[in-house]
Amino acid sequence: MSAATPTHRAVLAAEALEALALRPDGIYVDGTFGRGGHSRLILERLGPQGRLIALDRDPQAVDAARAIGDARFCMVHAPFSALAQTLDAQGVARAHGMLFDLGVSSPQLDDPARGFSFRADGPLDMRMDPTQGVSAAQWLATANEAQLREVIGGYGEERFAKQVAAAIAAARRSAPIRTTRQLADLVGAAVRTREPGQDPATRTFQALRIFINRELEEVSLMLPQAVERLAPGGRLALIAFHSLEDRIIKRFVQACARPVLPRDLPVRASEMPQALLTIVGKPMRPAAAEAAANPRARSAVLRVAERTAAHFDPSLITRIEPDAWRS
Ligand SMILES: C[S@@+](CC[C@H](N)C(=O)[O-])C[C@H]1O[C@@H](n2cnc3c(N)ncnc32)[C@H](O)[C@@H]1O
Repeated sequence: MSAATPTHRAVLAAEALEALALRPDGIYVDGTFGRGGHSRLILERLGPQGRLIALDRDPQAVDAARAIGDARFCMVHAPFSALAQTLDAQGVARAHGMLFDLGVSSPQLDDPARGFSFRADGPLDMRMDPTQGVSAAQWLATANEAQLREVIGGYGEERFAKQVAAAIAAARRSAPIRTTRQLADLVGAAVRTREPGQDPATRTFQALRIFINRELEEVSLMLPQAVERLAPGGRLALIAFHSLEDRIIKRFVQACARPVLPRDLPVRASEMPQALLTIVGKPMRPAAAEAAANPRARSAVLRVAERTAAHFDPSLITRIEPDAWRS
């Protein structure tokens, strides 16, 4: 890639690949193609009969996938909440492994035109898929102050959510908030305590990004579909970048690994709820060298689980609500 081509360094690449325990003739899913760092590594290890189905909701990621040109590979423009539908359309009943490397990619963050970054000025968009939904600027223009406070406090864990919400409400009375710089400046004035090494706008931008892209809801919808569509022995590798999504993943995987017996009800042995997943190893974080070389990697956590042969009964799936941060 040339220096001008926005690129993305795959996080925990070796660990995620090992976690997938690839079989050369297997069918794999990369639910978050990005720039294909993980996908390329998977393809390197697959044999001629292997298959890789990649998804991304960002049209720019889908364009970038054209460079792959491999008959074993197929790129689909879809949110991963449409995983089952995507696999149906590909004629795939079950996959042998799935990887989800959540969050935003470096090209998304680094391109001021996408509106994710407070470091450069650009239109306040923040949609991973700009063909869907409303931009951050549109939402900021219409949300009431209580909604602003709830999103910024809940998804950004911002202590000054009340002050930031009030500052947004006051600023938009004189002019619409259309750019990342406008928002970063007014948040900077409202957040009074600086966290070391962190821009005061960090939490508000994270909150808006999670909300605008329904990130937690996407993960909550994808997880049961992944479990349903994994073949027995198939691995699920999930890389989270913030505690809110990691908490949803952790709770879901634990619930699938230790199904709860109905209380006070006699249950026949044949009706005992069976574990759908086995947790593989401990959560993994990047080694010091990776964290030093790639600041994006610092907050990454990789969790791995393996599908058991138990029958998938949707009623046994504990749906972890995207608002798990409330509890
Ligand atoms: C961290 S990057 C993935 C990088 C990739 N593993 C690589 O090595 O290039 C996350 C990607 O997932 C996509 N994404 C995030 N949430 C998504 C969702 N709900 N459905 C589909 N794609 C999503 C983003 O658009 C972004 O391109």
